[in-house]
Amino acid sequence: MYAETRADDLVISCIRELMRRHPELPPERVDDVAIAATTQIGDQGLTIGRSAALLAGLPRSVPGFAIDRMCAGAMTAVTTVASGIAFGAYDVAIAGGVEHMSHHPMGEGLDPNPRIVAEKLVDESALVMGSTAENLHDRFPELTRERADAFAAASQDRVQRAYEAGVIQESLVPVATRSSELGWGLATADEPPRPGTTVDVLAGLRTPFRPHGRVTAGNAAGLNDGATACLVAAESVAEELGLPVAMRLVSYAFAGVEPEVMGVGPIPATEKALDKADLSIDDIGAFEINEAFAVQVLAFLDHFGIEASDPRVNPYGGAIAFGHPLASSGVRLMIQLARSFRDHPEARYGLTTMCIGLGMGGSVVWENPHYLAEAAA
Ligand SMILES: CC(C)(COP(=O)(O)OP(=O)(O)OC[C@H]1O[C@@H](n2cnc3c(N)ncnc32)[C@H](O)[C@@H]1OP(=O)(O)O)[C@@H](O)C(=O)NCCC(=O)NCCS
Repeated sequence: MYAETRADDLVISCIRELMRRHPELPPERVDDVAIAATTQIGDQGLTIGRSAALLAGLPRSVPGFAIDRMCAGAMTAVTTVASGIAFGAYDVAIAGGVEHMSHHPMGEGLDPNPRIVAEKLVDESALVMGSTAENLHDRFPELTRERADAFAAASQDRVQRAYEAGVIQESLVPVATRSSELGWGLATADEPPRPGTTVDVLAGLRTPFRPHGRVTAGNAAGLNDGATACLVAAESVAEELGLPVAMRLVSYAFAGVEPEVMGVGPIPATEKALDKADLSIDDIGAFEINEAFAVQVLAFLDHFGIEASDPRVNPYGGAIAFGHPLASSGVRLMIQLARSFRDHPEARYGLTTMCIGLGMGGSVVWENPHYLAEAAA
């Protein structure tokens, strides 16, 4: 769909649409624009937060910057500007991310220090995300391919149902597309989902990262193109301008783990974030766990004693069906959590969490502004 669309144009469309949907926000009040991309060259280069702000038509007085924490780029953009707000440096900022994985395949232009492998700082498998997912299956043999495939089929099913219920469409930004074969078009829905996926079909797929492995194209997120953007504001400024409040950021944390099993990163990150908020996992009424690989979501759920079928977990599906354009996904998780909050006034707190390459996890704890104690009782 986006083969001939520039990466920066994807995120510019998101910023423009955000400003169009919020005429109550005078553009000159935006204090900064933080846009993440993992590969910051070509159409994702040129300090994309600043160049996208200019191209989106924001006043020249609005600065911007680029950010990178691989899969958690947009999440880090949000926590960074939120920290600026907490410090008093900003009133309101735009945060988001973009990854055009067809223009910029994972690892493009990299020159990893040979010491990383020569000195056995990490095993070679740590640099291939699919291999780290296979390592996770090794470490936790109870996380079988059957469980991974069942989770993947459920994700496809949840996305299909969310689309049918009109949950997804409201947060999408239509993007004009161009194809030298097909001419001009308009992208109005996600392209990757495969409705009707069954565990039987998934069981027959190849395991590209290891012969007789368990990770397949069906139980992993794909290689996708996409972008996201959101507004982060101080509570008093949101009130002053009349900006709608979708979620309140309570705490966040990033944590490092062994790079060979980067998929466990969300576990310590979540423990750290919960600890900072003085909350326990039982306080969380809605979860958005990035589905880089089914096995990594299952490792998280097993650790915290949560069933894969728990209705609080990824109720509108996840990256296995939607795709995972790396640095953009953190804000998609937040958009879906905001929707969960609206639908579930009994949930007071929610969590967005994701694993990150080179052995990290990131977690953000949010509070539901629509929370009703009576609904929870
Ligand atoms: C797993 C991966 C290698 C697969 O890439 P790919 O081979 O190009 O994927 P494809 O879409 O061509 O799918 C492979 C096959 O599985 C099939 N398939 C994929 N999903 C399916 C589904 N849900 N149902 C049925 N078939 C499916 C495809 O139709 C294709 O079949 P074919 O070979 O007969 O054409 C790639 O998606 C990948 O690297 N994912 C991980 C990305 C990543 O690491 N992200 C960072 C996370 S930290």
